[in-house]
Amino acid sequence: MKLFDVYPINDVTIVKAKGSYVWDINGEQYLDLYGGHAVISIGHTHPHWVKRIEEQLEKIAFYSNSVRIPLQQQLAEKLGKISGKDDYQLFLCNSGAEANENALKLASFHNGRKKVIAFSKAFHGRTSLAVSATDNKNYVAPVNETDNVIFLPFNDEQALEDCFEENGNEISSVIVEGIQGVGGINVADEDFLKKIRELCDKYKAVYIADSVQCGCGRSGKFFSHDFAGVNADIYTMAKGMGNGFPVAGVIIAPHIKPKHFQLGTTFGGNHLACAAAIAVLEEIKSKDLMNQAKATGDYIIDQLRQIPNILEVRGRGLMIGIQLSEEFAHVKKNLLYKHQVFTGEAKPNVIRLLPALNLTIAEADIFLEALRSELAAVLV
Ligand SMILES: Cc1ncc(COP(=O)(O)O)c(C=O)c1O
Repeated sequence: MKLFDVYPINDVTIVKAKGSYVWDINGEQYLDLYGGHAVISIGHTHPHWVKRIEEQLEKIAFYSNSVRIPLQQQLAEKLGKISGKDDYQLFLCNSGAEANENALKLASFHNGRKKVIAFSKAFHGRTSLAVSATDNKNYVAPVNETDNVIFLPFNDEQALEDCFEENGNEISSVIVEGIQGVGGINVADEDFLKKIRELCDKYKAVYIADSVQCGCGRSGKFFSHDFAGVNADIYTMAKGMGNGFPVAGVIIAPHIKPKHFQLGTTFGGNHLACAAAIAVLEEIKSKDLMNQAKATGDYIIDQLRQIPNILEVRGRGLMIGIQLSEEFAHVKKNLLYKHQVFTGEAKPNVIRLLPALNLTIAEADIFLEALRSELAAVLV
């Protein structure tokens, strides 16, 4: 059997990883500012994370949600404290798409409505409703096509108001990333998020904050949406939550009440996943990683803004987009193959930085030096 070829991939086989570094099969070392797509939050093979998982593995790895799993409650409490959402409720699942799928479903169960507002360049995942709310026709199969999702321009308050005025009583939920990831690192305006809150309150719709990529402390706040100073009704998270162990969460405001069997999962919230997620939160808290992410991110953004030939630098904390022009389209590849630095990308010509939250300034400097030399190289 061969593999189903769904992605173009880099010609690198990683066999070892530690902190912000990975090594390939030939022993070549790479600096990792991509974190396997924003997943590595506290660093590869972090000792506290490894210890927590190993200890749990010796006890019990999995049992279904038909029994009490105290680790889930421990995780919920730690999440409540670190995010400031103590009074919210936690539903655990396995991936970002699944978290959004459940959030959209739950909103619809809650208010009995069908329509979802999503935004231009949004990415919410590959499952049926999540992909219908994703603004890329290539990902949406005919079976996922629906009239229930309305796309509006991102950060356009007037368009949102007009849409609610016209369809207000049919809108079940509004789903929005605090910082669009796949869309190219576009930060949601604070006033835009406030407007979503205001209109959702007015029309009894559910505000869903997709924090799958921008959450878990990456922006400098636990949820990047919280820069706006208003709460969402539901936050979804995944990626950095497990530092590589698949785990996701739906964080639900107290006024949304659970009803048996509306949501469910076999693997979600298993013992190992909880152990991994708890280790991540413990490390973020004990090492003050949200503040470190902000400080290192501010430093990188400031340095980037001084480099000629960069069209725009966007982002917050350690979620940074570097907009280049077409003539620099090769730079991401050169960073990897010439300078041994992994970065992410978004089309067209955006280099995306999604490193571990404990990336050091010295490590950031290695990347900055490589980028400076690449951008200067084209000039001569
Ligand atoms: C904002 C956002 N939501 C949802 C998802 C889907 O997450 P997953 O790939 O874990 O299903 C992603 C993945 O990139 C994402 O960036």
